[in-house]
Amino acid sequence: MTLHVDGRTHELTLDNRVTLLDALREHLGVTAPKKGCDHGQCGSCTVLADGRRVTSCLTFAVAANGAHVTTAAGLGADGDLHPVAQAFQDEDAFQCGYCTPGQICSAVGMLDEAKSGAPSFVTEDLDGAPELTADEIRERMSGNLCRCAAYPNILAAIAKAARP
Ligand code: FES
Ligand code: FES
Repeated sequence: MTLHVDGRTHELTLDNRVTLLDALREHLGVTAPKKGCDHGQCGSCTVLADGRRVTSCLTFAVAANGAHVTTAAGLGADGDLHPVAQAFQDEDAFQCGYCTPGQICSAVGMLDEAKSGAPSFVTEDLDGAPELTADEIRERMSGNLCRCAAYPNILAAIAKAARP
């Protein structure tokens, strides 16, 4: 199978039970996505597959065959931090940092989802692009847990990144 990861192409032969997370971390040495629960509950393994956020511990690597996978380490360009990563730094949106790569990838995917008009569970007006209120951001990021409870600063960082 072929995986394009953070701009590099890899050819792999894997057991079909290997998850995308293990393919990245154990077979390719790409350690930005973290293994927290390995059960789809914490979001620390979140990456973007063809631009959409996925929990890589719940995705078989073979299901991502041919996909362009972006980890938190592959965001940004020309040595500059991605605006979402910069906002996390500016707002001090972490303590231990273990959840942070997943939080950032999830936030990038979430902002694109909102921009495309995708509603969330708390969206009241289904016409037009949803306004990213604090409740909207909390709901849309609810799949990403932070054991350090840096939630107020994570919320502030994403709200900052969402501003035009
Ligand atoms: Fe994938 Fe927790 S490690 S959701
Ligand atoms: Fe420690 Fe989120 S910063 S788990």
